[in-house]
Amino acid sequence: MDLDSTPATIQLDYDRKAELIAFDETKAGVKGLVDAGITKVPRIFRLPSPEKLDSINEPKPCLPTIDMEGLNEDPIRRKQVMEKMKDALQSWGFFQIVNHGIPIKLLEDAKKSVIEFFEQDTDVKKQWYSRDVTGKIRVVYHSNYDLYSAPVTNWRDSFYCIMAPNPPEQHELPPPCRDTWPEYSTRMMKLGCCVFELISEGLGLDPNHLFDMGCAEGLSLLGHYYPSCPQPELTIGTQTHADNDFITILLQDHVGGLQVFYENQWIDVPPIAGALVVNAGDLLQLITNDKFVSSKHKVVANKMGPRVSLASFFSTNVIPTMKVYEPIKELVSDDNPAKYRGTTVKEYADYLREKGLDGTTDILQHFKIQT
Ligand code: OGA
Ligand code: NI
Repeated sequence: MDLDSTPATIQLDYDRKAELIAFDETKAGVKGLVDAGITKVPRIFRLPSPEKLDSINEPKPCLPTIDMEGLNEDPIRRKQVMEKMKDALQSWGFFQIVNHGIPIKLLEDAKKSVIEFFEQDTDVKKQWYSRDVTGKIRVVYHSNYDLYSAPVTNWRDSFYCIMAPNPPEQHELPPPCRDTWPEYSTRMMKLGCCVFELISEGLGLDPNHLFDMGCAEGLSLLGHYYPSCPQPELTIGTQTHADNDFITILLQDHVGGLQVFYENQWIDVPPIAGALVVNAGDLLQLITNDKFVSSKHKVVANKMGPRVSLASFFSTNVIPTMKVYEPIKELVSDDNPAKYRGTTVKEYADYLREKGLDGTTDILQHFKIQT
């Protein structure tokens, strides 16, 4: 199957730039188009060739779900969970977790905060509309962060806030998030640290190894809103990409549409009530010298909707430190030499921004040591 539905260059018979500017200037996002009652997907969103539908009825591999119950009370349980996470990260780069300790009510409130943010009046929401992704602005809302560099506009609006280091004051957050995001990010940080401990153990390292490297130093929350789409086969919710962080912990709602590329095919990440999706990002693949994989994933557009998700990105990304990340010394040897040169999160993030997401560029490749 062809992973890359979008070639890097497309011949166009319309003034794409002008249409992107017009769309951007509405500051109303994709939701604004749907609210205005459009029944056809405008051409800036159209894929050059329609999304291929998989043949039905053929049994497919199932993404692992890991039960974290009893993890801290029972060393045998802990080892089992650690082994499962290790296996999942080596093969899938993705897994779901249940019994992770985050109260269901908080998960529901977090989803609600994303819906409420996007369902505010456009005039209210506009105050956060920005293309400044340097971290200077605390809360940024826009549609398609790579609007002007990506070949196809995604059927999705987003907003984010950097929650660590230097968490925002409550009043700096949009009203729909004020009551939930501080608590949600504190809980996510705790859970993320627990996952980093298990991953460190899975790598045969001291439990604090990844934490001490600074993997949990930065946390951004990114809320996505995928409006219902009148012609879902013509567009894409989120273009094929790999995440640019250490790990991502994703809360998705009941609609579905997230897919991971595994063994040469697209596999659904099925919505499970109360579960969270965990995946490795490129920086984890780099420091583990390819032991853990940062898998490509995408979100298909859907007639059902809106769909919302809330991603917790563990990375300092836009407010980078000068720390250099390279394959962990304990994981390399004469027989398994380092595959990547050292890089800072800033260098990595700048390179990614320059390239934009087109579904075909392998960002990690740029940091590979040529042999
Ligand atoms: C992301 C992402 C998936 C989703 O934010 O990087 O892959 O379900 N999100 O919204
Ligand atoms: Ni992603």
